[in-house]
Amino acid sequence: MINIDHVATLRNARREAFPDPVEAARLCEASGADGIVFHLREDRRHIQDHDVARLKQAVRGKLDFELSTNDEMVSICCATRPDLATLVPERREEITTEGGLDVVRLQIILSNTVDRLQQAGIDEVALFVDPDPDQIRAVRDTGASAIELHTGDFANASAGEDQLYEIHRLARAADVAHECGLTIHAGHGLDFNNYGLFARSVSHVREVSIGFAIVARSVFVGLGAAVTEMAQLVKGRHGS
Ligand code: PXP
Repeated sequence: MINIDHVATLRNARREAFPDPVEAARLCEASGADGIVFHLREDRRHIQDHDVARLKQAVRGKLDFELSTNDEMVSICCATRPDLATLVPERREEITTEGGLDVVRLQIILSNTVDRLQQAGIDEVALFVDPDPDQIRAVRDTGASAIELHTGDFANASAGEDQLYEIHRLARAADVAHECGLTIHAGHGLDFNNYGLFARSVSHVREVSIGFAIVARSVFVGLGAAVTEMAQLVKGRHGS
């Protein structure tokens, strides 16, 4: 799954109508992406409301709508009815999503939000969580059917012991989620270099969500080629 937020970041930097994230989504799908991810942030720093409706129309594969538990975002998501809604924490001052949801502490609000999304007819609701067994077990109690494992600490770890520590945390967390009967997605900071170790080490992962590394690579090789390279890596054609 390709996250196209940063195509909108570039567009908004110049207050232009291009590059269009919807056109990017079409190209990603034509180049091998199984689905498209976007995050409608409360501050609308990248994806805008008009993009959401157009993405819903244009995307043929799986559409993943990332959102916080903010009432307005939940209403827009319910009206959009994506294939997957992924709940993430959101702080205005952060550069990107920092860490997973505290599902243990926010159990009630998250359960209510999951329920609202499911009642709207959204089949799959995921919670973005750190690779912490207690948090993962708490996901089950919210009624969500899936988790997205936060891979950011792994991606930021320096090669060697730190990275091995983080990959073992992810592997153990995925096992726990699997035992809980949850569908497992993963993302944040995955790139052309670290994906191989991730894929070899962490089992049961159904989907990965990758954005920045692909948009960054597209500056040099074009979006279609960057997506195809990553799709081949993920689908194992070039080994992972
Ligand atoms: N998953 C979640 C929940 C995210 O918030 C992000 C960043 O928007 C991603 C995955 C993708 O991360 P990256 O852009 O680092 O690939």
